[in-house]
Amino acid sequence: MKHTEICEGSTRLLVPSGFCEKGPGKNTGEVFYNRQMEFGRDVSVMLSRTLLDRRCRALDGLAATGARGIRMANEGGSEATFFLNDRNEEAFRLIEKNVELNGLGPNTTVWCRDVRALLAEERFDYIDIDPFGTPVDFIDAAVQGCRNGGIVAVTATDTAPLCGTYPKTSSRRYGARSLRSNFSHETGLRILIGYLAREAAKHDRGCEPLLCYSADHYLRCHVRIAKGARKADDSLGRLGYALYDPKSLAREIVSERPTEDCAFAGPLWTGELHDGDALMALTPTNDLGTKRRSEKMLGLWRGEVGAPPLHFVVDELAQRTRCEPPRMTTLIDRIREMGAMAVPTHFNSKGFKTDLPLDDLIRLFAGTVGRDGAPGN
Ligand SMILES: C[S@@+](CC[C@H](N)C(=O)[O-])C[C@H]1O[C@@H](n2cnc3c(N)ncnc32)[C@H](O)[C@@H]1O
Repeated sequence: MKHTEICEGSTRLLVPSGFCEKGPGKNTGEVFYNRQMEFGRDVSVMLSRTLLDRRCRALDGLAATGARGIRMANEGGSEATFFLNDRNEEAFRLIEKNVELNGLGPNTTVWCRDVRALLAEERFDYIDIDPFGTPVDFIDAAVQGCRNGGIVAVTATDTAPLCGTYPKTSSRRYGARSLRSNFSHETGLRILIGYLAREAAKHDRGCEPLLCYSADHYLRCHVRIAKGARKADDSLGRLGYALYDPKSLAREIVSERPTEDCAFAGPLWTGELHDGDALMALTPTNDLGTKRRSEKMLGLWRGEVGAPPLHFVVDELAQRTRCEPPRMTTLIDRIREMGAMAVPTHFNSKGFKTDLPLDDLIRLFAGTVGRDGAPGN
């Protein structure tokens, strides 16, 4: 296999010469590297700077080239002990080379094992699960391998099942019905967190979201695994269902599984997607390749804390009211003038979250367009 040396952040990496630039990428048998995931790895670097200290044991369980774990070890600035693992022998050898290339010392260990067997034997404070497609094969092992108060970080690229294109696959994999809608990436992400909460609860442990988001072709969750049956019950208490009527655009969170024949998604997580304090501690520094995107996303994530679930998209309201969509900023200002909360959302550049009742929103939407006649952004 031919290698090319690239740079991500301030880390040097040998990656396969024909590496994937964009999209979910495929399991071609070659060691996997996807340039587009740099944003997600920048976020991991930022998190590692604030969440990991020298007592921590951090595992990149499905490391491929080692890109994520090596960057966290090299750029994270903590003295945590890092473990990089991939069961593919070629990947294992490449990780070793990349560890050496970055002069990482005795605080970094490389393994070539099935991560599930590894997690049955070792305990960590941070576990990263970044598989091809669905993470369900690894969640139970990750929860069990996580120390109390530790963090499990999970990527899912099976967005088609989670976001409603294949609801039967979602039911089989996640035990939750998915739903196609204008807010399906939010329900997909909430199904994934709900699954993590249920898996944690099996072991009398709670699941507390630190930062959960949708980006490009994937969903990503960072959750704290909290000790105790009460924490597990608290987490299960935040599961519910999202009801949706595509005709009226009404959407609602309910706690019981709907019995009537209506469109719904769930069980899913109905609580916060992020922890405000964890977000406040993150700083997109100049060395990060996606600094500008990280700053923008961080602003949106911070704004979402305390906002209700199930966002709206300007276009669906425009369609429903047969009005030209107003500028998002204008709409948000008008909603706030009415005393309701409104924030843009990271899920969609034309999306926003609000607690204004739908009828008022529709009246305001039509009225706003009437007043300023502004074209949509
Ligand atoms: C999508 S890639 C990981 C990408 C990597 N985290 C990054 O940021 O570039 C998934 C990796 O998981 C490895 N893998 C799949 N099943 C595994 C298992 N059961 N145990 C350990 N590694 C596994 C594959 O060999 C592959 O290298």
